[in-house]
Amino acid sequence: MKIRFLPKLSRSKGTLILVLSKNIFKGFNLRKELVSQLNKVVLNSKFSFKKMQTLEILDPNDPNFNKVLIIGTGTLNKLSLRDFDLLGGKITQLSLGESKSRVSIIYDSAIKKQDSILRMAYGSLLGSYRFNKYKTKKKDKTTLPSIDIISNNYNELNKFFQRYSAISKGVFLARDLVNEPSNILYPKEYSRRVLELRKLGIIVEVLGEQKMKSLGMNSLLGVGLGSQHESQLVIMKWNGLKNKKTKPICFVGKGVCFDSGGISLKPGSKMEEMIGDMGGSAAVVGLMKSLALRKAKANVVGVVGLVENMPDGKAQKPGDIVKSMSGQTIEIQNTDAEGRLVLADALWYTQKRFKPEFIVDLATLTGAILFSLGNVISGIFSNNDKLADKIYKAGQVSGDRVWRLPLDEAYDKMIDSQFADMKNIGRGRAGSITAAQFLKRFVNEVPWTHIDIAGTATGMPKNSINTSWATGFGVHLLDTLINQNFES
Ligand code: BES
Ligand code: ZN
Ligand code: ZN
Repeated sequence: MKIRFLPKLSRSKGTLILVLSKNIFKGFNLRKELVSQLNKVVLNSKFSFKKMQTLEILDPNDPNFNKVLIIGTGTLNKLSLRDFDLLGGKITQLSLGESKSRVSIIYDSAIKKQDSILRMAYGSLLGSYRFNKYKTKKKDKTTLPSIDIISNNYNELNKFFQRYSAISKGVFLARDLVNEPSNILYPKEYSRRVLELRKLGIIVEVLGEQKMKSLGMNSLLGVGLGSQHESQLVIMKWNGLKNKKTKPICFVGKGVCFDSGGISLKPGSKMEEMIGDMGGSAAVVGLMKSLALRKAKANVVGVVGLVENMPDGKAQKPGDIVKSMSGQTIEIQNTDAEGRLVLADALWYTQKRFKPEFIVDLATLTGAILFSLGNVISGIFSNNDKLADKIYKAGQVSGDRVWRLPLDEAYDKMIDSQFADMKNIGRGRAGSITAAQFLKRFVNEVPWTHIDIAGTATGMPKNSINTSWATGFGVHLLDTLINQNFES
């Protein structure tokens, strides 16, 4: 679906949607007959312009429209940017049945901030996402090809909307990757799809098992031992700044295409959801796409570790000890705590090779984060207060919200091992924190933040902008982080 900002209503037959905080139907160049009809209908109904409330007028007094819909906004100064996303999503929902006609949007002139309108339009795009590829019979209603938003400011809005259009494409790619089942999206197929991003100007390198072996990435490789599919490490580079001297910003993602738990096999119930255990990597890949599409003025590197965690005669076993690329040894006490093993080598590699400004990693790392924050907010852990604050702020603006949890030596101790330098699980509680402490041992002094998205990459409550199991969480967050801090 496309969003177009236009200066005035077109004359061709279509649906009109009014986004209003109160009954002010004048000032939009609507026919007198229609204005008085709208006033009358509103007066005779219970409609009171509350947030997201809707009213449908099926026989409008205007030959140009076959239908008029009103969406209430509630008190305008109480609306957050997220509310504007949701209003936009509502517009898309309401226009679902209108696939054959033009849909035009008029909005309250009291909405002054350009960002609010842009976010409303962005929400409309987000709400148009469907994952239908495996439905041969009942497909979800698809949305229409375009929505027109009428505004005097149409030129500027079209220009600034390019960023949001790019973000939505990144979010959709992330959602597609996460929704994809693991018989289709195994590590090699995944890296092949990332290679397609080369046509946008992203430099993509793929390391196979042989290369990783020579680099000493035994922590990552151990996870894939039980799988029929070859593990992959994919490196993506977007060089949006000509000045190559700036240190790159690096993002690292957990890409476990399927997490059965390995020899420490997971229980059967909901195991199918582990096709989404590559949500962190999908956010990184989606982010790179959005940055390239909008030609972001930043040098950014994305690194994703792609593996499949399976039980097998060749699989890694509890009690095994591996030597990571960093030289540190790890006692595997539970093969289901595999994400941190993948990230350990991916983080170390990223830090050594790129000497980054900072590293942010994203991972569906722990079930424990669901106990703290549910399917609503992601947990962040950081060795750097400034970076953590920036990510928190980007979360408040983007709507991909995060909340910081602590790191502490007392938790770090919990992963000391009697045989090796560390073990891959902590005994006792605080599972999300001990997982983060584990990662911290692989980043040295580089400013770093870990985002645990086990509760937010999938399964967030559905609404007008979150229309599928996979959410695409992280793409808008990180695009905002870069846009607000590193693209002056
Ligand atoms: N992929 C899981 C975490 C997860 C759980 C993601 C639920 C999404 C939804 C991770 O690899 C895992 O299995 N973690 C274990 C760690 C434990 C063995 C220390 C967990 O959280 O139970
Ligand atoms: Zn696991
Ligand atoms: Zn996992």
